[in-house]
Amino acid sequence: MTPRHFVTLLDLSSDELERLVQRAIELQKMRRAGEIYEPLKNRVLGMIFEKSSTRTRVSFEAGMTQFGGSAIFLSSRDTQLGRGEPIEDSARVLSSMVDAVMIRTFEHEMVERFSAYSSVPVINALTDDFHPCQLLADMQTYVEQRGSIRGKTVTWIGDGNNMCHSYMNAALRFGFHLNIATPEGYEPNPKIVAATRSHITLMRDPKEAASAADLIVTDVWASMGQEEESSARNSVFQPYQVNSQLMSVANQDALFMHCLPAHRGEEVSAEVIDGPQSVVWDEAENRLHAQKALLEFLLIS
Ligand code: CP
Ligand code: NVA
Repeated sequence: MTPRHFVTLLDLSSDELERLVQRAIELQKMRRAGEIYEPLKNRVLGMIFEKSSTRTRVSFEAGMTQFGGSAIFLSSRDTQLGRGEPIEDSARVLSSMVDAVMIRTFEHEMVERFSAYSSVPVINALTDDFHPCQLLADMQTYVEQRGSIRGKTVTWIGDGNNMCHSYMNAALRFGFHLNIATPEGYEPNPKIVAATRSHITLMRDPKEAASAADLIVTDVWASMGQEEESSARNSVFQPYQVNSQLMSVANQDALFMHCLPAHRGEEVSAEVIDGPQSVVWDEAENRLHAQKALLEFLLIS
C-alpha cells in the first residue's frame, strides 16, 4: 500500500486538516493534564536535517518520545546522503528500517523524490519552497485564540518565501483570504500564485495589505541558504517591518505570528513581537502538539 505523505498541505483535504488541528488541541490538553498516551511504542522516526533547526528537531524528537517511540537525528554531514548516495537509494534503505521519515532540506524536489521511493510516510520539515508543519501549528494557535479562521483576513508581510507559499496553500485549505505584501522582485512563486489565485491578493503596500486583518504574519528577510543576500535584502525590505504603526491599521483584536527565529528591529519591532498581540510562544509550543497529531494521523489512522 502506498503510504500517505505530508510534502505540502495540499496532501491533506480541508476536512483532514481541520480534524488534525482539533486533535492537536486535544493532545495539548492531555499533555497538560499529565496523561500518558503512547500510541507509537517501538516506532521510530528518521529525521534528516540538511539545514539548522531548534523547534522542528526538538518538537519531533520530544513528540516521538512522549508517544512511546523514538527518533534518530541524521545530519547530512555524517550520513552517506551528504556524500552523494542517491536519494532514491537512501529512501529505499531508510524506509525499510524506520516507520516515518522527516526531512529538512534545500530543494523541494529532493523531498518529492524521496517520498516517491519511500515505503513509509515522509514529512516535509521545511524546504526552500514550503514549510507545512509550521502552518499546522499556526492554524492551531489561531483556532485556540480566536476560533475558526474560515472567512478571516490574514496578511503576509515581507518575502514571498517558503512560509508565504505554505500560507497560500493554507488559505485554500482552511478557507481564509491572504493579502500578500512583498517588495518588487520578491513575490511568491507564480505557479503557486496561479493555484491559489481565488484566495490571495498580491500587493505592494504593507499598510493596504494589513488594513482590517485578523492576523498579521511575517518571517525573516533572508532565509536559510540566502545568507549572502542579507545586506541587499535588508535595505529593500526596510518598509516591510511589522511595527506598531502597521499593527494599528489591522483589526483591534488582530494577532501577530512569526515562525521564529526572529530578528527584532528587522522584520518585526521588539514592541510587536514582545507585545500583547503576539502569540509567537504558543505558536512555537504548538509545533509539538500539531506534529504529534500529524504523526498519529500518518502512522495509525
Ligand atoms: N520555525 C521553525 O521551523 O524553527 P526551527 O528552524 O528552529 O526548526
Ligand atoms: N523562511 C525561513 C523559515 C525558518 C523556519 C527559512 O527558510 O530559513
